[in-house]
Amino acid sequence: MGQDLEKVLVTEEQITTRLQEMGAQIDADYAGRDLLIVGVLKGAVMVMADLARALHSPVAMDWMAVSSYGAGTTSSGVVRILKDLETDIKDRDVLIVEDVIDSGLTLSWLVGNLKSRGPASVEICTMVRKPLAFDVDLDVRYVGFDLPNEFIVGYGLDYAERYRNLPLIGTLAPHVYEDDA
Ligand code: IMP
Ligand code: MG
Repeated sequence: MGQDLEKVLVTEEQITTRLQEMGAQIDADYAGRDLLIVGVLKGAVMVMADLARALHSPVAMDWMAVSSYGAGTTSSGVVRILKDLETDIKDRDVLIVEDVIDSGLTLSWLVGNLKSRGPASVEICTMVRKPLAFDVDLDVRYVGFDLPNEFIVGYGLDYAERYRNLPLIGTLAPHVYEDDA
């Protein structure tokens, strides 16, 4: 896959180091509480797997899948649940785990949806935040990396369902898009 990359923005080592820091912070913040981490499929698979192993308490893990109708294209913020939680989150401390926050519209909707179920708390952890996310009223507690407004792949992030398995985060070389056109 190396020849398909243009730039490496975050190396595998930087991801590992940052996850240890975030894990320590989350351990401290939730000490003595019964945390449920919720991964948003499919992008958050890598962060969930690695973040969970950086935590030192026996957290519960659950998953949601949502489809958003094109942030910026049509009805932005209109979201459909494709797979719901199996856990009743009433009175639970919930931490949503995401790969990237771009417009933040999907996540705003998700936070509202989860809060309506009566949890003790809902917080957000994302590996990457992009600048547009600051335009939406979204309180993001844990951020791995603030990156510029570019299309990125790797570490769960896809281009046309590929490159999620890159262990680093980077941008794709123009030929990848040209080959697809
Ligand atoms: P939102 O714009 O914050 O609602 O992001 C919606 C979804 O778009 C994210 O969960 C990702 O699946 C996807 N996305 C946003 N930016 C990127 C990117 O740079 N690469 C790959 N997927 C992205
Ligand atoms: Mg995606």
